[in-house]
Amino acid sequence: MKRQPRLSPRSAKSRRTVSIIGTGSYVPEKILTNEDLSRIVNTSDEWITSRTGIKQRRIAAKDEHTSDMAAKAAVKAMEQAKISPAEIDLILVATATPDMLFPATACFVQKKIGAHKAACLDISAACAGFLFAVEIAQQFITSHTHDTVLVIGADKLTAITNWTDRNTCVLFGDGAGAAILRHRGGSHGVLSTHIGSDGQFTDILFMPGGGSRCPITHENVDLHLQTIHMTGKEVYKQAVSAMLSAAKKALDQAGLSIEDIACVIPHQANVRIIEAIADRLKIPLDKFYVNVDKYGNTSAAAVAIALDEANRTGRIKPGDFVLMVVFGGGLTWASTVIEW
Ligand code: ACO
Repeated sequence: MKRQPRLSPRSAKSRRTVSIIGTGSYVPEKILTNEDLSRIVNTSDEWITSRTGIKQRRIAAKDEHTSDMAAKAAVKAMEQAKISPAEIDLILVATATPDMLFPATACFVQKKIGAHKAACLDISAACAGFLFAVEIAQQFITSHTHDTVLVIGADKLTAITNWTDRNTCVLFGDGAGAAILRHRGGSHGVLSTHIGSDGQFTDILFMPGGGSRCPITHENVDLHLQTIHMTGKEVYKQAVSAMLSAAKKALDQAGLSIEDIACVIPHQANVRIIEAIADRLKIPLDKFYVNVDKYGNTSAAAVAIALDEANRTGRIKPGDFVLMVVFGGGLTWASTVIEW
């Protein structure tokens, strides 16, 4: 028999639940395979597949920006939700690769989709950003200040990739995913959310150049400071432990156990991280939605694209309990349990 979940503490207080009423995603046309990469750096399909599970990734065109991908995903989410752009009153874009440092990428998206009524802001929580944005959207809706929120995870990581560094360039890809959040009568929707950070680890996954601390100069560009720097082994270790603990927190808050969950949608960084989590949660790998083989790590977009695919392919169905759990630079982590 299906277990009755606990209502989210915020929804319980405000008597206003929050549901995802539409999803959408977009990935660029151009595919870069592991074979292609082996002609750019000293690597092989065998190495990349066995260490990461990635087979190919999508690469945005030079004139295709984060906001272009975000807007395309948003249009699909609005179509599915059957709402017009004028109904959106808040746009949150989670990204580590904004079109510009300012204005916010969300403002570019607003212009592209014609959501003139919306307030717009970007969320900076690296790969964990989409679920940070879901949490923020939930706060706005349950507090009755905004009704319809467009949440987007979008990244063009290939714009900040060092294509001479085989340790990192094989891991990343581009894309965007979107969701429309709104109160929907008679439905539980978002049951629990958990977000967390640990600033002790700002130096294991970061982009040193391009901000105010290390502005762009010829010298800094020659040193590749405007690209992703990562200590892979440490990131791997922290990712497994942070995602495990975040998953447990969201389940506890919802009053559910992992056996109640129909589908786990994790951050798509590396299939070995996903396998380690499945093993420690003692659940079969086929409970996890995995598409990292097709897209690589698309950062804030990863879990949003996976959610949209799971939704559109019928992998998640109305009434299912879905657990999403993510991890990113910062360090940041987040989890949420949703009754679909
Ligand atoms: N092709 C061939 N050899 C490679 C490659 C490559 N692409 N990259 C590294 N190597 C070599 C290294 O140079 C090293 O060689 P050496 O022993 O001669 O020095 C050897 O392979 C082993 O390297 P390790 O770094 O020890 O390899 P590891 O088993 O740790 O795997 C990996 C590396 C895949 C990066 C792993 O550490 C990992 O997955 N970490 C997590 C990364 C991640 O998920 N990052 C993003 C998460 S958060 C976010 O999404 C922003």
